[in-house]
Amino acid sequence: MTNKMINLDQTELPKSWFNPLPLFDEPLPPPIDGISKDPIPPEDLAKIFPKRSIEVEVSQERRIDIPEEVSEAYKIWRPTPLIRATNLERELDTPAKIYFKYEGASPPGSHKPNTALPQTYYAKQEGTKTLTTETGAGQWGSALSFTGTQFDVNVKVFMVRVSYDQKPYRKSMIQSWDGEIVPSPSDTTKAGRTFLEQDPDTDGTLGMAISEAVELALESDDTKYSLGSVLNHVLIHQSILGLETKDQLEKAGVKPDVLIGCVGGGSNFGGLILPFLEDVIEGGEDIDVIAVEPTACPTLSKGDERYDYADSGEITPMLNMYTLGHNFVPAGIHAGGLRYHGTAPILTRLKDLGYLKARAYPQTDTFEAAMQFANTEAYIPAPETSHAIKAAIDEALKAKEENEEKTIVFNYSGHGNFDMSAYDAYLSGELEDVYHEA
Ligand SMILES: Cc1ncc(COP(=O)(O)O)c(C=O)c1O
Repeated sequence: MTNKMINLDQTELPKSWFNPLPLFDEPLPPPIDGISKDPIPPEDLAKIFPKRSIEVEVSQERRIDIPEEVSEAYKIWRPTPLIRATNLERELDTPAKIYFKYEGASPPGSHKPNTALPQTYYAKQEGTKTLTTETGAGQWGSALSFTGTQFDVNVKVFMVRVSYDQKPYRKSMIQSWDGEIVPSPSDTTKAGRTFLEQDPDTDGTLGMAISEAVELALESDDTKYSLGSVLNHVLIHQSILGLETKDQLEKAGVKPDVLIGCVGGGSNFGGLILPFLEDVIEGGEDIDVIAVEPTACPTLSKGDERYDYADSGEITPMLNMYTLGHNFVPAGIHAGGLRYHGTAPILTRLKDLGYLKARAYPQTDTFEAAMQFANTEAYIPAPETSHAIKAAIDEALKAKEENEEKTIVFNYSGHGNFDMSAYDAYLSGELEDVYHEA
């Protein structure tokens, strides 16, 4: 009998994160100032972020030690299981093996605390009293509120208005962990008031919410800002999930042929794939790496590569990324965490080097895949995660057509237990598909 769940013992928890930056021949283009266009020295970024986060951001060490206190707190839910989707394989009648890394196991239900925890820890170490942040679907805001309780840091969350209205229980969750929550754009910041003047009925975007959160961090010395995606240090923290996956696949005696993840800013996908890059870039292994996006916000598939602001209000530094433009307002699709105009600079480089492929799906296709998954593997995924599931199903069907015994691994970035209004909309036929033609 083979195991359906491949588990690691807590003593096997990775002791360091994986940093991909030393793998690149050329350094990544640095963040630049939006007005002067000069590179921003790391010290200046420390006005917004905890210092240690910035050190990790620019580190050239391949492995970065996980502080003891962070490791202890990871043990609340880590290591997470790697699960073989045997029922789905049977239903699809595919020769492919499908595995998913179950990141829905964390207290808020997604991969997001993997970086919220070290970011909060570093902030506390440096005397920060309050962390501000933005959240789309609410997963990131709830993750940071949860980690705020672990290290006794106040958390203030600007939640994108359309998601605030669609996902009321995320708000309650953030408040249950003592977080403060404000729908964005709000009239509590300069940036928010400007967005509201431009369009009082706006759905809001992650870019707008970032402007509001960064503004508060710039105004006060004991307040810092925490970003849940995009930046190097965020993807590096998320590598814990990929490192565990690598160990678990080794335990199962298989090597991946295809790695899949959904992409908003790129953190869960980056976390899964980065530790495998050593094998691909240095070891010459052949792994298909697939980034999945919504057709309403196809940043990697249809965006341009250039410097752009990380936020809509032009307060943040500019980053070199694939972008649809910082003023782009994506349609209010249910995968709120995928409504971001840009992509992580690390993924930008990987796409340029030809190591990853991007594809985009309309939301009804992803909900159909989610239903098939829920009715075979039983877990009900977050709408973001459903994008990865749709791609995994398509890859398994392709393997069937080509009669190939592939191993497909995807990251199950979060559960959908608070996304029932999205499922209601799908089940009652109210979902609309949106295609962005960049
Ligand atoms: C469950 C889930 N998956 C994926 C994402 C996308 O973010 P990222 O691309 O940073 O993993 C989010 C963002 O909120 C999310 O909540």
